Amino acid sequence: MNGMRPISAARLAIEAEGHRHLVKRGWLRFLHLENMPPLVAFLGYCLKLTLLDVSGRKNALDVQVERVDIALPGLPKGFEGVKILFVSDLHIDGQERLAEKLIGLIEALTYDYCLLGGDYTFRSDRESEVATSRMVKIATYLAGRTEVYGILGNHDHYAMGECLNQCGVKMLINSSVCLRRGGDIVHLVGLDDWHYYHADDLALAEQEVPSDACRVMLCHSPERYNLVAKAGYALYLAGHTHGGQICLPNGYAPATCATIPRSLVRGAWQWDDMQGYTSRGCGTSGLPFRFFCPPEITLITLHRQ
Ligand SMILES: [Fe+2]
Repeated sequence: MNGMRPISAARLAIEAEGHRHLVKRGWLRFLHLENMPPLVAFLGYCLKLTLLDVSGRKNALDVQVERVDIALPGLPKGFEGVKILFVSDLHIDGQERLAEKLIGLIEALTYDYCLLGGDYTFRSDRESEVATSRMVKIATYLAGRTEVYGILGNHDHYAMGECLNQCGVKMLINSSVCLRRGGDIVHLVGLDDWHYYHADDLALAEQEVPSDACRVMLCHSPERYNLVAKAGYALYLAGHTHGGQICLPNGYAPATCATIPRSLVRGAWQWDDMQGYTSRGCGTSGLPFRFFCPPEITLITLHRQ
């Protein structure tokens, strides 16, 4: 599809509500961390009281470059060794100096494609001028280096997608694009957010994609793992969980804000025949702190299996 797909009725209906999003599924929805802002605020207050907020803020800016090799059956020859820079969950208005930090890290990397995994803003209930101006700076920089493709996350309004699109990021909102290396093709498919918006539409997204082709899914939350694996995708790239963001010293994430098996919370995973990777993200949401779960950008090298 040429250009950015217009906003869907599902997304428009929720954006028009104009208040804080809630997770509205499951009979235990009232226990969902995202539906309990007072509890999140109380946790932040406790961290401040114990002075742990200082190290939590410092940890949140300690962005790591994760280098990952992923082998895919059916990957065309021309894509052997292709490098993808995957940047997710920037929540760019939540951290001072994060934009400069990211650009500094990326400057030293070489890669063939850049993928943006959504969640560009800190708050989910309103658009942010600070987020927009910082994302313009980052997106313009990235688009000046390589092809950049992006999706929207559960914190994003459609207007952010339009802004990124104007900066040169090709936004995949229930749509796809052909990545070409010589005569070889990999189809990159992007879904709109399911977690808050229920705006994903796989059939619409892949209507121009042959079902026997090598396909890579870019979807903000890993929560669509089952659907996408059954559809025969080779690779699923996601963010959303932040790897737990605030974890115990052994790395265990008490809250993931996603209905997924534990193996999908962060890092590389496999579901049926599909490979997957869930980024810890490079920003924060809820609270601007991280513990035992450093932020990341991911440099993925593809291999033929
Ligand atoms: Fe996020």
